[in-house]
Amino acid sequence: MRVALLVSVFGCCIPFSLVGWDSQVPASPSSVEGQTGDCRLQEEIPPERKNLKRLNNDCKKCHADIHAEWTLTQHAKSWTDPVFQAEISKLEDKGASCARCHAPRALWHKEMGEIPVARDKDRDLGVNCVTCHMLGNIYFGPFDSQGHGGVEGEPVYRESTMCFSCHGQPEARREHDQMTSYLEGKAWSKDGKTCQTCHMPMVERKLVTKKSLKMKFLIGVQPVRMHSFTGARRGEIVKGCADLEVVFEGEKVVASITPRTGHSLPCTTHREVVLTVVQSDGAGQELSRQTKKYTFPDGEALPPSGTTAVAFAAAVGAKKVRATLVQVMTKTEGRPQDIRQPIQEAETQR
Ligand code: HEC
Ligand code: HEC
Ligand code: HEC
Ligand code: HEC
Ligand code: HEC
Repeated sequence: MRVALLVSVFGCCIPFSLVGWDSQVPASPSSVEGQTGDCRLQEEIPPERKNLKRLNNDCKKCHADIHAEWTLTQHAKSWTDPVFQAEISKLEDKGASCARCHAPRALWHKEMGEIPVARDKDRDLGVNCVTCHMLGNIYFGPFDSQGHGGVEGEPVYRESTMCFSCHGQPEARREHDQMTSYLEGKAWSKDGKTCQTCHMPMVERKLVTKKSLKMKFLIGVQPVRMHSFTGARRGEIVKGCADLEVVFEGEKVVASITPRTGHSLPCTTHREVVLTVVQSDGAGQELSRQTKKYTFPDGEALPPSGTTAVAFAAAVGAKKVRATLVQVMTKTEGRPQDIRQPIQEAETQR
């Protein structure tokens, strides 16, 4: 396949063919609107509505690593996930109201940070490359780039605002709102840590994996963000996501939890964070076992800033105490059993 890369000196209206769809010189979202007669205007029916599957698959040809990572995320499964499917099967509208975030059209149809518009086709493709990076034929990304005739750099890709479009809509879906606790927490937002900092870790690698590309200077190794969007389904992000300390304080046993998440812990439904404190005597005989549960959005969740201390009565004769903190993805329709993942443990003696 012939790949042509268009540089802006060629002017604006030269059509060029990339991988089977037409691409043109990029425009900013504001210049897309209301500029009739501008050759940068898209076709009447943007490609995302014609053949989204093909368009999204094409990204794989050159951005194979990113595509492979995306395939494993809940973004790729945001419509097909069994827990989601079980929920919408009970709804009268079969999930049409959920499609705004679980199967949306391109984010740039709205302002970043606003709830997207629902897609009515190819919902199985969930939240995909086109959703986040295109509007019609125009590409957007974190930096200006010459890939496929031009990528419009928009700083918002490096800000949490982009994620707030779906993860920060307390009025529409308070159970999916990570924004409020993140902003209230300040510990992270003030530090300049964004959602991307933790959920899209930085790596050094080729951004473009296609070997036959003509403009080789575009395909060197560089620092890029992974599209891993890791969550609780892959335990590695859960392990160590809070610090835990336990001490005897007179007639009490006090456990202190300090989350290292940017938002509340837990931060979504079907999750429990369970603190278990087991006291035993000098011989190791268990004397008492106490637990405390944290849930979101109903009930108490651990705030992301500072330390939450929990006191239990010390058992008579207690010499040792062992505390564990575990995240549970609870059993629900579509998830046949609880999935437990350790966060942290601590112990002390007296
Ligand atoms: C949920 C939205 C979202 C989805 C889905 C998504 N991306 Fe991204 N992408 C981003 C964000 C945010 C960044 C910017 C990260 C940064 O640099 O801070 C980005 C960056 C990129 C970059 C530039 C990498 C860099 O670090 O400079 C490429 C290339 C890219 N994405 C391609 C893709 C492809 C291909 C897909 C589909 C397989 C995809 N993206 C899916 C949000 C998304
Ligand atoms: C024929 C190869 C090819 C295909 C197919 C392709 N890209 Fe690219 N892409 C590139 C090249 C080359 C660059 C420029 C890399 C650079 O500037 O270092 C690029 C850059 C990007 C960037 C900007 C990276 C940055 O640093 O800001 C984004 C975003 C992006 N592509 C998204 C996509 C999406 C989404 C698709 C699928 C709809 C796609 N690309 C399909 C070759 C391709
Ligand atoms: C278009 C809406 C949308 C945007 C924009 C979006 N997300 Fe998501 N995200 C979702 C949906 C929907 C799910 C849940 C899918 C499910 O579990 O059914 C999700 C899931 C996740 C998960 C959980 C993954 C897991 O395995 O449990 C993480 C982490 C995440 N998103 C991070 C981000 C970050 C970071 C950004 C911004 C760069 C972002 N998302 C932008 C809609 C979006
Ligand atoms: C405002 C955007 C938005 C709307 C509207 C929305 N969701 Fe979500 N949903 C999300 C985001 C973002 C996530 C991932 C973050 C999270 O789990 O809180 C998610 C995750 C989920 C999950 C996965 C939670 C888990 O246990 O892993 C389910 C199930 C779900 N949504 C059901 C629904 C249903 C059913 C509807 C429609 C009645 C709906 N959502 C509407 C944004 C939305
Ligand atoms: C300091 C790092 C950090 C920052 C910043 C951060 N997160 Fe998280 N996030 C985590 C950790 C660690 C977890 C795993 C623990 C948990 O499940 O709550 C997590 C969990 C999640 C989950 C739930 C995944 C699941 O399956 O349970 C979603 C959704 C999410 N984050 C979205 C976001 C969004 C959106 C932002 C920006 C507003 C953000 N995160 C900022 C570290 C961070």
